[in-house]
Amino acid sequence: MKILSIIGARPQFIKCASLSRAIRKEHTEILVHTGQHYDPEMSDIFFKELQIPEPDYNLGVGSSTHGEQTGKMLIEIEKILLNEKPDLVLVYGDTNSTLAGALAASKLLIKVAHVEAGLRSFDRTMPEEINRVLTDHISDLLFCPTETAVLNLKKEGIATGVYNVGDVMLDALEYNIKITEEKTTVLDDLSLSPKEYLVATVHRASNTDNFKNLSSIVNSFCDVDISIVFPVHPRTEKYLKQYGLWDKLCEKVKVIPPLGYLEMLKLMVHSRKILTDSGGVQKEAYMLGVPCITMRENTEWVETVDDGGNMLVGADYEKIMDGILNFEGTKIKGDVFGTGNACVEISKILNKICSTFY
Ligand code: UD1
Ligand code: UDP
Repeated sequence: MKILSIIGARPQFIKCASLSRAIRKEHTEILVHTGQHYDPEMSDIFFKELQIPEPDYNLGVGSSTHGEQTGKMLIEIEKILLNEKPDLVLVYGDTNSTLAGALAASKLLIKVAHVEAGLRSFDRTMPEEINRVLTDHISDLLFCPTETAVLNLKKEGIATGVYNVGDVMLDALEYNIKITEEKTTVLDDLSLSPKEYLVATVHRASNTDNFKNLSSIVNSFCDVDISIVFPVHPRTEKYLKQYGLWDKLCEKVKVIPPLGYLEMLKLMVHSRKILTDSGGVQKEAYMLGVPCITMRENTEWVETVDDGGNMLVGADYEKIMDGILNFEGTKIKGDVFGTGNACVEISKILNKICSTFY
């Protein structure tokens, strides 16, 4: 089968690294990078570290408003689809690149497979929620990471082509965890000792594009005694500087540029707790058994909260402080995300359906 995969943002590179390896054993893959993320530390580093094949196309769309960015992607992806005529388009997660890929393909009557289907935060103010709902409703194959995701789809009337394959990020984590121990020196580089620091990431629009929320997060980070390592997403850096919070943060917290996946994994494994608003980082904290304090009001990864490994604190100063000082999590590492075999499962299903679709 000729599969055209569309990626464009950091977490999609990480997911694609594992799945691409599996599907290229059986199928031909054309890789399209939309260029949504483009800084070397948001894009190139993942291709190099994780040995992701060089994209066949890079659309170079860059940053803009949602409509303009998604629109530019649609125009360019359509041209490629008309030219390449793939049997299937594969999209990942919930970014604007995901929606543009799925929409362009479905309008051309090309089958769409959605990896990480069925996630819902039930918060339509999140751009990602719009991307998820729309992508799921125009996908032919829906690869869900959890049973909750399968149920979410069922409630929306989507039951055909739905498979619970487990989470591809668990595959990525298991594949890379040994490599990271051998190859990275990030703890020494930052003069950190295991379990004597916290890791923080922030990039969600509801936190970055809001002075009150971002100030509250910064104030809490500055008011604790333990070291916090904060690899800063470019969106967050922009707003921290715009709001005059950057210098305040730098005095107290270890503010560093975004890390490669191997360095990030090593930092997380040895951290005492993780503070984040990232979807992927919440899951990784759970998979690694590190207590996670999530600076959001809701999460699509409900299992991490139900199992006691994750605490939702929003952007509330008191709640963040309470999490940092008191939340220890239950260190449950259940099997809600599968067995680390999601990529092989997806590849097997693609082989099977190949004969029914075509
Ligand atoms: C996007 C996704 C989000 C995902 C995140 C992963 C959407 C709507 N959002 O959010 O779901 O969790 O990626 O990290 O698709 N920027 C740079 N250099 C880059 C990339 C971005 O400077 O390489 C800056 C630009 O100022 C840009 C801003 O970051 O305007 C936001 O980037 P964008 O890709 O629009 O959204 P993210 O916040 O990264
Ligand atoms: N990540 C990384 N470097 C960083 C921050 C995060 O490699 O500096 C990884 C993280 O380990 C996870 C993924 O990026 O695998 C999550 O991406 P992000 O938080 O940007 O997006 P989300 O998962 O929220 O969509």
